[in-house]
Amino acid sequence: MRTLVKNIKELVGVESTPQLRKQGKEMAVLEAIKDAYLLVEDGKIKAFGEMKDLKEENADRVVDATGRLVFPSFCDSHTHIVYANSREHEFVDKIRGLSYEEIAKRGGGILNSAKATAAASEDELYDMALQRLEGVVHLGTGAIEIKSGYGLTTESELKLLRVIRRLKETSPVTIKSNFLGAHGIPMEYRGHQEDYVDLVINEMIPLVADEGLADFIDVFCDQGFFTVEDTARILEAGIKYGMKPKIHANEMAVSGGVQVGVKYGAISVDHLEQMGDAEIECLKGTETMPTVLPGCAFFLNLPLSPARRMIDAGLPVAMASDYNPGTSPSGNMQLILSMACIRYRLTPEEALNATTLNTAYAMGVSREVGSIAVGKKANFYVTKPIASYEYMPYAYGENKVERVFLNGAEI
Ligand code: NIG
Ligand code: FE
Repeated sequence: MRTLVKNIKELVGVESTPQLRKQGKEMAVLEAIKDAYLLVEDGKIKAFGEMKDLKEENADRVVDATGRLVFPSFCDSHTHIVYANSREHEFVDKIRGLSYEEIAKRGGGILNSAKATAAASEDELYDMALQRLEGVVHLGTGAIEIKSGYGLTTESELKLLRVIRRLKETSPVTIKSNFLGAHGIPMEYRGHQEDYVDLVINEMIPLVADEGLADFIDVFCDQGFFTVEDTARILEAGIKYGMKPKIHANEMAVSGGVQVGVKYGAISVDHLEQMGDAEIECLKGTETMPTVLPGCAFFLNLPLSPARRMIDAGLPVAMASDYNPGTSPSGNMQLILSMACIRYRLTPEEALNATTLNTAYAMGVSREVGSIAVGKKANFYVTKPIASYEYMPYAYGENKVERVFLNGAEI
């Protein structure tokens, strides 16, 4: 099956020499071809170039993209979309002055979601997560990482991970799963949380590994949640069972999360609202992708992660949605792209790299997706008629995506 997309006003995010990620000054480099074509064969990108160089139009299907731009699909490397209930009442509590930590302390927050999620069946959770997934696909997302973490009991965590497995099996989206048993401390373990850490290590991780349910192991390493010591123990156990670390760090405080993540070779450390010079230094020369979650900082009114400073220091930066009911109830990556530019002062080129190639890297799939390159999956979207690629972050709040293709097939 061959699909030809022709007369593309501008084909953006192409790579003639594919890279696994972009860092520092490279992030400002975004290759694009004006008046372009894109040829897809058997779900993969076969060729692309200028229309004047298109030799033959021998394809089963031709898509005319006159006046429209084509971009590689967004990769969203940090989400929690398997959950049962929304949490708008806590949202109102926050407006009235309670902090995220105060709500968590009184048993709200993650524990509130865990209670509702425990009561839902696997089928119900699957249906709800699928609806969220389909929603973001139509906004341009083509690859996504999904965490467990609203279970917090062995049975419930396994249920969530099985839902993610089912999404992997049934959806055309590229999906990676992340076991986040250490997301919150259940009420009955308050005051002796090391016993909950023991449960995660001795019972949950072996069972998760037995069923091959997780690509990654995650910990919410932060003030009021899991300590650096807890995190180190859990990461070691996960690594032993073949899971790669990918952690929540430095959202509430300079917690040592970045350092412990780097020490255990985390593929990414995420949040990073609280970063000192030592954290930036510590990330230099490592394989770990600093990942900023603009939706969470926006929703909780947190200080902004110093993304600009990290790029200027030569680091790579990825930006993901953190789609979850408590701190970012939206998975709209077009909005993340706008926030990257407006709030974090990334240029459109840097912001596009941060939400495609670098997020692909942060979920271990940048050989397959994240740019328009020969041999990669044909995951891309065609915009509505728009003037330029800068319009994408500029026109915030507007859906600029008209048609979505995953593995070469229109969704
Ligand atoms: O990434 N920070 C920890 N976990 C989620 C929030 C989860 C929740 O509040 O439900 C996050 O922001
Ligand atoms: Fe998160």
